[in-house]
Amino acid sequence: MTPTPPAPRAAQSGATIRLAHESDLPAVDRIFRVAFGTYLGLPDPMQFTGDAEYIRTRWLADPAAVFAAELDGELVGANFATRWGSVGFFGPLAVRPDLWGKGIAQLLLAPTMELFDRWGVRHAGLFTFAASAKHVGLYQKYGFWPRFLTALMERQIGTENTTTQWTRFSALSGPEKLACLEACRELTSSIYDGLDLEREILAVDNQHLGDTLLTWNLSQLVGLAVCHAGRGTEAGSGKCYIKFACVRGGPSAPREFRRLLNACREFGLSAGAATLIAGMNLARLDAYREMLGAGFRATTQGVVMERNAEPGYNRPDVFLIDDWR
Ligand SMILES: CC(C)(COP(=O)(O)OP(=O)(O)OC[C@H]1O[C@@H](n2cnc3c(N)ncnc32)[C@H](O)[C@@H]1OP(=O)(O)O)[C@@H](O)C(=O)NCCC(=O)NCCS
Repeated sequence: MTPTPPAPRAAQSGATIRLAHESDLPAVDRIFRVAFGTYLGLPDPMQFTGDAEYIRTRWLADPAAVFAAELDGELVGANFATRWGSVGFFGPLAVRPDLWGKGIAQLLLAPTMELFDRWGVRHAGLFTFAASAKHVGLYQKYGFWPRFLTALMERQIGTENTTTQWTRFSALSGPEKLACLEACRELTSSIYDGLDLEREILAVDNQHLGDTLLTWNLSQLVGLAVCHAGRGTEAGSGKCYIKFACVRGGPSAPREFRRLLNACREFGLSAGAATLIAGMNLARLDAYREMLGAGFRATTQGVVMERNAEPGYNRPDVFLIDDWR
């Protein structure tokens, strides 16, 4: 169902909010890089995320979930919402730096919250800068509370040849893909009721951003990993980004998680990547320890904020990778 565009509204700044169009994407990309690059103090803010691509790929994944702020005919901010079935999160949220503190982010957040309501998401959240009182204070106004640190991690892929059993979503026929999406839904729902990664799996497949790796125990799906690889994706040149991965719970979960990490390494190698990157919410302590054991090291840490402080699938025994960046 396509959500109804929210009515434009007036801001203290005079900005109005509408859905972003394809023709807005270059301006949104510029604001995204300048805003984050400026906040992080980069010498050239436009270099933020290098040749990784977040804006066009996310807009293509769901054009009805990207809000733009406009002032005097110019684009000045944007926010992206993502729905994973019963789970929703937002970001990147960015406002042109000369207009910070004028309420534009709050104008963008209002329709985002309405969209979450229309989607009926039960677990909602975001990833932000743990050290920023401004960011935490802003999101608290909407009922999001800071919970666990989330580590953005990486490890070198190396060249060692391993032979893990896994298959690729991209290799399936049309009808097989439909059946596979159903199997993925069953797996993710067994971890958190209604969690559904269809949007990400199809975005990667339709836009050729990487692949979704699947691990099986006989005919039962036990693990899946949605990976981006290379420039023009959320990974960037030379990198493979595990955007989401999980394995079925139970006694064999740690072993299956290690197998899935190996599959990701092998996929990264086949895609010409030298580095594997992934984010881990530290509430998922067992999985975090497995990542450390597999040679991942944190490069940055942020914090995940969750609506009503509900943990969702952020539990110690859940073997799942994501970071909502
Ligand atoms: C973060 C960002 C989107 C905020 O945009 P903005 O338009 O400046 O935000 P707003 O003016 O709507 O809201 C700022 C709010 O922060 C809160 N805030 C600011 N300083 C605060 C503090 N020290 N303690 C608590 N709350 C604080 C206030 O609630 C303030 O709103 P109010 O003064 O109207 O009550 C913008 O600064 C930006 O683009 N930053 C770079 C990119 C980025 O960090 N994106 C978000 C990543 S999660």
